[in-house]
Amino acid sequence: MANISGKTLLSANRAIGAALNANTARTQSWFAGVQMGPPDAILGVTEAFKRDTNPKKINLGVGAYRDDNGKPWVLPSVRTAEERIVAKKLDKEYATIIGIPDFYNKAIELALGKDSERLKGKHNATTQSISGTGALRIGAAFLSKFWQGNREVYVPTPTWGNHVPIFEHSGLPIKKYRYYDPKTCGLDVQGVFEDISKIPEKSIVLLHACAHNPTGVDLSLEQWKELSQLIKKKNLFPFFDMAYQGFASGDVDRDAQAVRIFEKDGHLYCLAQSFAKNMGLYGERAGAYSVITASKEEADRVTSQIKILIRALYSNPPINGARLAAEILNDQELRAIWLKDVKTMADRIINIRAQLKGNLVKLGSSRSWDHITNQIGMFCYSGMTAENVERLSKEFSIYLTKDGRISMAGVTSKNVDYLAHAMHEVTK
Ligand SMILES: Cc1ncc(COP(=O)(O)O)c(C=O)c1O
Repeated sequence: MANISGKTLLSANRAIGAALNANTARTQSWFAGVQMGPPDAILGVTEAFKRDTNPKKINLGVGAYRDDNGKPWVLPSVRTAEERIVAKKLDKEYATIIGIPDFYNKAIELALGKDSERLKGKHNATTQSISGTGALRIGAAFLSKFWQGNREVYVPTPTWGNHVPIFEHSGLPIKKYRYYDPKTCGLDVQGVFEDISKIPEKSIVLLHACAHNPTGVDLSLEQWKELSQLIKKKNLFPFFDMAYQGFASGDVDRDAQAVRIFEKDGHLYCLAQSFAKNMGLYGERAGAYSVITASKEEADRVTSQIKILIRALYSNPPINGARLAAEILNDQELRAIWLKDVKTMADRIINIRAQLKGNLVKLGSSRSWDHITNQIGMFCYSGMTAENVERLSKEFSIYLTKDGRISMAGVTSKNVDYLAHAMHEVTK
């Protein structure tokens, strides 16, 4: 090594320091105009919950299933699939651009059913996606590039918060249609039908297939049938978001009814699927995006363009979650265990809804809490005001988003009495 004197070393260090400072200053100046973004609403709830030292505290913000001990639950069917996959000692090569066929072909079959004529005729352009969010994002990118009609996407009021930025990032502006009625904590039937009937022809309309997030309010089968006819008459393009198939009622076929009604009525549409909730594969990011087209030849052309979009977005999807889901969906025995697991989750939520409502009635609440059991899925749009919510956190250490949305997954047989008491106190 060269012999450097103390003085030379000092001046060399100074020169490096000056260069670093200059670099830091320049780096800072490139992003000096970047403003601090607002914190995520749900993360804010979790942070406040974590800081609270009250042993009775409850977190009703999380959008993930918890068991009756308030713990995350890895489904037994998923554990078995995991063991089988490990035993196979598979390689870690890339999947294709559109993912693992054993996964995405079964995913769309789960949505449309085995007897779907469209599937038999291969009219579907289906691709694996990075869970439901990724499916929506691919759909937004595809429509942004190829949609020939009105470029606005109509979403319900309210809707899952991420719908807006997902479509806007792709250059598709958002418009809204009425959906939820705060007076009844139920569906604004008139609002839905009036607003959708006024949407300009050839627009895209986003529909939550089941377990609407954040309200838990779904259309009845009769209303879906009517809506299907209206959307057909108005020549609109339905974009289904199905993030909770099976998680809502405990029955995967029942939860897919809305999509299947549209399918039967001959719509061309697209569909985003997630396996985060119904398989508990949250962090594994397993999902699928499908465009239901007019022919196999059209589906092939659509798939070829989706491949080009995905290549530039993330090249190809992660393999582990898709392998797990494929293992479950392709094996009759494991699939049967999974269907039971799904029902276990849905039933726990349905039962705890009944307990919460029952407790409020027992406490003598003068309000109607029927919507707690009329709503379905992970969330209950409780009808509590921002003021009620603030009192719940300050006086009872119960945390939820300001819109009064309760994640029912956070309610257990151990905390439901305390929650009902607190809700009664703040809504008297
Ligand atoms: C309505 C809706 N769509 C899509 C998603 C997508 O979730 P993920 O990307 O985790 O599958 C969610 C998750 O909360 C949701 O509620």
